[in-house]
Amino acid sequence: MTKILSAVAWPYANGPRHLGHVAGFGVPSDVFSRYMRMAGNDVLMVSGSDEHGTPILVLADQQGVTPQELVDRNHAIIARELADLGCSYDLYTRTTTANHYSVAQELFRQVHANGYMIEQTTRGAISPSTGRTLPDRYIEGTCPICGYAEARGDQCDNCGNQLEPTDLIDPRSKVNGETPEFIETQHFFLDLPALADALREWLDDREASGTWRPNVIKFSLNILDDIRPRAMTRDIDWGIPVPLEGWQDQHAKRLYVWFDAVVGYLSASVEWARRLGEPERWREWWNDEDARSYYFMGKDNITFHSQIWPAELLAYAGRGSRGGEPGSFGVLNLPTEVVSSEYLTMEGKQFSSSRGHVIGIREVLERYGPDPIRYFICAAGPENQDSNFTWAEFVQRNNSELVAGWGNLVNRTGAMIAKSFGEIPKPGPLEPVDEAVRAATLKAFDTVGELLSHQRIKSAVNEAMRAVGEVNKYVSDTEPFKLKGEDQQERLATVLHTLIQCVSDLNTVLAPFLPHAANRVHAFLGGEGEFMPMPVVEEVSGLDEGDKDRTYPIITGDYTTTPRWESRPVSIGAPIAKPTGVFVKLDEAVVDEELARLQQP
Ligand code: MF3
Ligand code: ZN
Repeated sequence: MTKILSAVAWPYANGPRHLGHVAGFGVPSDVFSRYMRMAGNDVLMVSGSDEHGTPILVLADQQGVTPQELVDRNHAIIARELADLGCSYDLYTRTTTANHYSVAQELFRQVHANGYMIEQTTRGAISPSTGRTLPDRYIEGTCPICGYAEARGDQCDNCGNQLEPTDLIDPRSKVNGETPEFIETQHFFLDLPALADALREWLDDREASGTWRPNVIKFSLNILDDIRPRAMTRDIDWGIPVPLEGWQDQHAKRLYVWFDAVVGYLSASVEWARRLGEPERWREWWNDEDARSYYFMGKDNITFHSQIWPAELLAYAGRGSRGGEPGSFGVLNLPTEVVSSEYLTMEGKQFSSSRGHVIGIREVLERYGPDPIRYFICAAGPENQDSNFTWAEFVQRNNSELVAGWGNLVNRTGAMIAKSFGEIPKPGPLEPVDEAVRAATLKAFDTVGELLSHQRIKSAVNEAMRAVGEVNKYVSDTEPFKLKGEDQQERLATVLHTLIQCVSDLNTVLAPFLPHAANRVHAFLGGEGEFMPMPVVEEVSGLDEGDKDRTYPIITGDYTTTPRWESRPVSIGAPIAKPTGVFVKLDEAVVDEELARLQQP
């Protein structure tokens, strides 16, 4: 039994999440984690809401609420959405907990003590009226290279050149239009060059394992060539205080997201163990060298996970060129795999909440339920290349693959058994055609399992659906609906028994992708209780002095009853009623309705 840390990217709490977000990290990580549990591993799946940073401050100001109020609201919404999608986190928490603050600060202190935090003076932009920092992308002005009037402080979208805010002609704040003031400011930079050799050694070893997605390992090795110190603090008054003498009380200096959200994987593991009442349990996933960790994210997050976070872990352990020693958390495991997906577009265009070219998770769930969208993401999502969501393809896949493929197999198997026997019949001798179809579904456990263990979710779901096709073909080949005579009863019993056994097995094989449907099929097969355990949203209190008095929702769950990845013999004699639809056929009109919604501003 291997310890598997399933580390899922922390969604930014600036609003509800859309389909593009969960296609990259949400669904793939859940399919993988559910499978790894079924295969008998000890999975710890953690994530949370990323709640600090300038965009949240700016938004809170616009809405006339405090940043805490804003993230309280959004965190609750996001947690609900992810739970309803079936994402089986052991803990989905948030970055504004006292536990997270203290873990991030412990890491910072040790990295600093080991000599990997260098203090540097830089020029930063502030808003003269509020005294707040203006991040590069919140400054707008004329591009000095092409003259484009709306270039941003980090780059010009017209000519594509990278810019510094000080390069801009007539710079102005995108927040309130005023001219920014450039000031000298002190910051801590993570000395990435001092960690480059250790990083390269780790990445070379990871490349040799041959298991990373090719574009992810290539990108990660490439960015090593241009490694520079990176600022780990920011001039901002919303975030984790810098835990050093003289900095602690500086109201407007906080840890940057690179030393905040990524630390969440560790702090959430610690919080999970503390909530369990076994505060050291997290160490089994972090200190034990045999434990494995899989990090799931979209491709804009690769740098975070294959460079910044590993560098922080190495620096914390004193494993860079400046030496040093680990702090109280000990030597922490580096990522085993960085599982990054590509981008999802919608109807050929980027998702854009502001332009209304978007579909929120909440809306998808309300209109279609979780499994059709999980299925689309698995079968056609951006696993290895950018992909495009269209409503036409969504409806088509739902109707022809889920409804007419898998759902129909379940329904007609159930209907035939209900009509002829009312219970699962005892089979007679098997014929070669029966043995062949049994062998095909049993083989699916191996092929699909092997693919899932390598996060090849698209191929895995295709293999599973291919097995569904074979069983549907078995029905056409054996034509049980024509076996009517008295003398054909035994043959009918054999075929229907074979069929329902195949349905049961395929339900297990499809369960990581379609856990809600798996529970419905399980009930129809006469099973009791929940087949695939579901996450729950729980309102909990903070664990520490700083936040004992507030409560907030987390996602958690008891996944110990997860079924094993194996065939279970159906019970002869179990009553079978005619099943009601496992999936719902969608009217073609859905396509136009949804497209019309997109056009609205
Ligand atoms: N919230 C950030 C984003 O969505 C960072 C997520 S990755 C993590 O890009 F490492 F911080 F979790
Ligand atoms: Zn330009």
